[in-house]
Amino acid sequence: MRYETPEPDVTRRYRAPGRVNLIGEHTDYNDGFVMPVAIDRYTTVEARPRADRRVLVRSDGYDRPADIDLADPGAPAGAWSDYVRGVVAVLQRSGQSLRGADLAITSDVPAGAGLSSSAALEVAAGYALLHLTGRPIDLTALALACQEAEHEYAGTRCGLMDQFIACHGRAGHAVLLDTRTLDALWLPLPPGVQVIVCNTMTRHALASDGYNERRADCEAAVRALAVRLPRIRALRDVSFADLEANRDVLPDQVYRRCRHVVTENARTLSAADALRDGDIARVGVLMGASHASLRDDYEVSTPELDALVDVATEMEATIGARMTGGGFGGCTVNLVRADAVESFAAHVRVRYHAHTGRMPEIYTCAAADGVREDVPEGEQL
Ligand code: GLA
Repeated sequence: MRYETPEPDVTRRYRAPGRVNLIGEHTDYNDGFVMPVAIDRYTTVEARPRADRRVLVRSDGYDRPADIDLADPGAPAGAWSDYVRGVVAVLQRSGQSLRGADLAITSDVPAGAGLSSSAALEVAAGYALLHLTGRPIDLTALALACQEAEHEYAGTRCGLMDQFIACHGRAGHAVLLDTRTLDALWLPLPPGVQVIVCNTMTRHALASDGYNERRADCEAAVRALAVRLPRIRALRDVSFADLEANRDVLPDQVYRRCRHVVTENARTLSAADALRDGDIARVGVLMGASHASLRDDYEVSTPELDALVDVATEMEATIGARMTGGGFGGCTVNLVRADAVESFAAHVRVRYHAHTGRMPEIYTCAAADGVREDVPEGEQL
C-alpha cells in the first residue's frame, strides 16, 4: 500500500464495494451477529488534490455537484452529496485534517436497492480523502465514521454492517461479524456455489421511517425487559428462554420484533458453523427460516420480495433464498448451484413477471475485497 502524500496534479482512483447480507438481518443495531459479503459492484472515486480547502464532488448519476468547505462542511442539504458532506464533517470532527480535493464519482451499485450504495459512497469518499493526506488509514475507524455520517446526514439510524463490509470485505469470503465486539471471522464460500442477487425493482418511499421504527421498538423492548433482566444492554443479551418467560411485559408486536432478533442471532451463528462444516444445505435452510421471520415477525418484507423468494425456491438448484438488507423492497440473496445459474435466472424472470407484472434485475456476484486504491493494471506494485 502507498502512503506518500500524492502530488497535486495526480488523479487517483479508489473503489468501495456494495454488499449483500447472507444472514443476520436487523441484528446489527441490537449488538448482534451479521454475515455479509462484499460484492463485485463498486462505487469509484477519482480524486485529485486541490490547493485550497474545498472538496468539490460530482457524480455521473446526479446533476448537482456539491462544494464542501473543509472549514465548515455545513448541515445536510437534502442532496445525494450529503453522504460525502457527512463523512467530511465526521472525519474532521474526529481530528482528521483533510486536504481539499476534486472528487468524481461513478457507481454500478444500484441505488436504493438495498445493496448499500450509500455505504459504498461514504467509504469510497472517506478512504479517498484520507488517502490523500498520506497518513495510514484505520479501516474500522473509517467504517464507524461513515456510520455516524449516515445517522447524522441521512437520518437512518443504521447499524455498522454495511460500512464494515465495505471496508473489510475479502474476495471469496463472507464475514461473520460480532457487532458488539467487532470481532470478525472471514469464512470462505464453498466452490460450486454462486451468490445471485435478485432485484424486485421496488422500493418503498418510507423505508427509512420503517427502519427507524423497528430500531425504536427494539430499544423500547430492552428497556421493558431490563426491569426483570437487569443485566441486559441490548437484545443480543436476551436468550429465547428469557424472552418467552418475560413475554408479558411486551406488547404483542414488540414481542414478535424481539423474537425475530433473538432467533436471527441464533440462526446466524448456526449458519457460520454450517459454512465452516461445509454444510451448505443447512445454510440454505437457515436462510429460508430467516426470510419467514423477517416476513411474519419483523414485517419488513413485501409481496414482491416474498414472490422472488418463492419463485427462486421452486428451483431444485436453489440452496437458499431470502430478502436481504433493510427490506421494504430491494433485493433477495440466493445461493444457487453454480452449474444452474442460467436456468435459475431464466426461471426467476419468467415466474416473477408472471406473479407481479415486473421484470427483476438479476446480478451474478462474486465475493469481493473491501475498499482500496484502484491501481490500473500494469501500474500495480
Ligand atoms: C440496513 C442497515 C444495516 C442493517 C440492515 C438490516 O442495510 O444499513 O445497518 O441494519 O439494514 O440488517
